Amino acid sequence: MKLFDVYPLIDVTPAKAEGSYFWDENGTEYLDLYGGHAVISIGHSHPTYVKYITEQLNNIGFYSNYVKIPIQNQVAEQLTKLSGYPDYTLFLCNSGAEANENAIKLASFHTGKKKIIYFSGAFHGRTAAAVACTDNPKIVAPVNQSENFIKLPFNDLEALENEFKTNSDIAGVIVEGIQGVGGVQIPTTEFLQKIQQLCNENNVVFIADEIQSGFGRSGKFFSHQQAGVTPDIISMAKGMGNGFPVAGILISPKFKASYGLLGTTFGGNFLACAATKAVLEVIEEENLLQNAQEVGDYLVSLLQNQKNINEIRYQGLMIGIDLAFPCNEVRTRLVKEHKMLTGNASTPNTLRVLPALNVKKEDVKKFADALIQILNEY
Ligand SMILES: Cc1ncc(COP(=O)(O)O)c(C=O)c1O
Repeated sequence: MKLFDVYPLIDVTPAKAEGSYFWDENGTEYLDLYGGHAVISIGHSHPTYVKYITEQLNNIGFYSNYVKIPIQNQVAEQLTKLSGYPDYTLFLCNSGAEANENAIKLASFHTGKKKIIYFSGAFHGRTAAAVACTDNPKIVAPVNQSENFIKLPFNDLEALENEFKTNSDIAGVIVEGIQGVGGVQIPTTEFLQKIQQLCNENNVVFIADEIQSGFGRSGKFFSHQQAGVTPDIISMAKGMGNGFPVAGILISPKFKASYGLLGTTFGGNFLACAATKAVLEVIEEENLLQNAQEVGDYLVSLLQNQKNINEIRYQGLMIGIDLAFPCNEVRTRLVKEHKMLTGNASTPNTLRVLPALNVKKEDVKKFADALIQILNEY
């Protein structure tokens, strides 16, 4: 049987990995500055991660939310300590899109309203509601099209105010902490604060999608914390399991839980929680928020004022480098000539760099040297 051919693949086959590196089947070493779409947070095959998942598997791998799973509470305790949201509750699920589906559903249940505001450049996932608030008509099937989702220009305070003035059916506003797929576009502090203010005044649910920008990637636990706002629901995935499929939402105490309101078969299973437990422990013990900040600043300092770089947008280790031309050829050359993986975005000139949060300065220096060398040839 062939695979349903939906992914344009680069010609690399990782066979073994450690930290910020992996090796292909021939033993060729690659520097991973992409982490499989921003997923690798504590580095490939971190010893704590391998230990916790292995130990868990040797005891029990799976049961559904039909029995007590105390490791879920341990993860919630760790999140209480690290996230800055001690009075929020945690709902665990399996993917970013599913986290956003649950966030949107909860906003609608809570307010009894139907409309969700999202922004130009947004990517919130590929499932029904998540894709309906994603700014890419190519991936919105006719069945997903819905008048319940209202697109407004990103970082435009006036457009947001006008919508709130004329629309009394708004259930929620969803915004990425930092737009990832959209090209590492950072919401202004004023914009996030305006969302917060309008949501508070109108009893509308503020949803921060921290699926890519959360779990320490920005140098804060959640990137919206740079703006001092407190969303009602925060969705998380990617870095949360360092590759194990796990996601979740943090939910403000203003939401009341009831049996059956949300649910999932796989969400919060033993193995997923063991992965998240390891990630949170390593983030804390190895001080990875600080490392993300320091190494991000260092890499950007190396790339300042270099030929063919027009702009760099970043927080911590979520970095978008706008070249003077489309970046795909440069990315291919980085793979072929320097054995380094980077990402792209929906804005063609943007090279997206999303290394593990414990990447070392010497590694990003190697990358900066390689990139500068290539860019000087154009
Ligand atoms: C900000 C954001 N939200 C949601 C998603 C969807 O996550 P998943 O692919 O796990 O469904 C992504 C994935 O790239 C994302 O970057």
